[in-house]
Amino acid sequence: MNRQGTGYCFGLHLWSVLTAVAAMPLLLAGGTVTTFRWGMVDDTWPTSPWYLLANWSEAVARGIAFVAEHGHRQLGWLVGGMTLVLAVWTWLTSRQRSTRLQSILAIWCVLAVGLQGLLGGLRVLYEVPIGRELAMLHGIVGQVVFALLVALAVSLSASWLAGATVAVHGRAKLLRLAVLTIGLLLGQLVIGTSLRQVGGRTSWPIVVHLVLAAGVLFHAILLYVKAQMLEPVAYRWLRWPSFWLAVLAGLQVVLGMGAWMLGAGDGGVSREISPERALVATSHMLVAALLLVSAVVAVMRIGHQLVESAPVRESAAVAVGGRP
Ligand code: HEM
Repeated sequence: MNRQGTGYCFGLHLWSVLTAVAAMPLLLAGGTVTTFRWGMVDDTWPTSPWYLLANWSEAVARGIAFVAEHGHRQLGWLVGGMTLVLAVWTWLTSRQRSTRLQSILAIWCVLAVGLQGLLGGLRVLYEVPIGRELAMLHGIVGQVVFALLVALAVSLSASWLAGATVAVHGRAKLLRLAVLTIGLLLGQLVIGTSLRQVGGRTSWPIVVHLVLAAGVLFHAILLYVKAQMLEPVAYRWLRWPSFWLAVLAGLQVVLGMGAWMLGAGDGGVSREISPERALVATSHMLVAALLLVSAVVAVMRIGHQLVESAPVRESAAVAVGGRP
């Protein structure tokens, strides 16, 4: 279905959403493997896409760690394959759209998914001497892949391709705020993965992590308040991303504190990981990914759907947290 010449295709959009959704269990599996330190349970790489299914009974006999680690690889193959189909489909239909954004995002998705698989494999092969560094990179790129897939899905949606814009005052400030939030979240990602892989739960990394957490929370709430101040016609573009940013930022602080109190952030020193710690630390990782995605969607909507209104009389202006 091509909606009124905008290049919208229901099937392609649905596939892009399914691909982004499929990346969530993949992230969850990766986070669980990291939490329990199951990453080096099998030092064989590469393995075929059907390895786990073809060797199911042997895998079960080798224990939960083996099944989880290969389950993560299996999901990686699935998301990798879905991303490839998504990219080819996006390219084949690119002429129907007026911009090349979707095609560029599709290339980035394929490159990022490929890099992520490679990092996972190299981490297994080169545990000594650079396993930790590769595991950190793998943790960071995983969340970036998820954000790219969501960005592509948003850019293939009917509402995006229709290209409707609303004039608001203070659009540049709003955009800066949302971009800064992405920056803070990426900073948290780097420090957080380092807490997980290298440690620092009682030294400077946790202090930096706490300062950045305060920054994320402040910016998320500010963005939510500023979005509330928009006219309804403009607010509708930011309603969900700003709402989820604020709610998830609050939840993330609670989860982070819980993870720390349960002993997380020790760089893998603990041998026994309690189920509570695993649940809280893995949720903290997943919520971080959802926060990043919410901030990316907020930036995309502000950048695409809102335009700076011309400086007109004060009474006619739609104020966004500042004077027109
Ligand atoms: C909005 C605020 C926060 C964000 C966005 C955030 C983000 C992250 C991220 C991305 C990771 C790495 C997860 C991974 O990829 O494996 C992490 C780990 C961690 N964070 Fe946070 N965090 C926040 C707040 C906090 C707070 C307030 C604390 C309290 C001390 C905290 C404690 C930790 C700990 C201990 C780890 C290591 C977990 C482990 O070893 O399993 N975080 N965080």
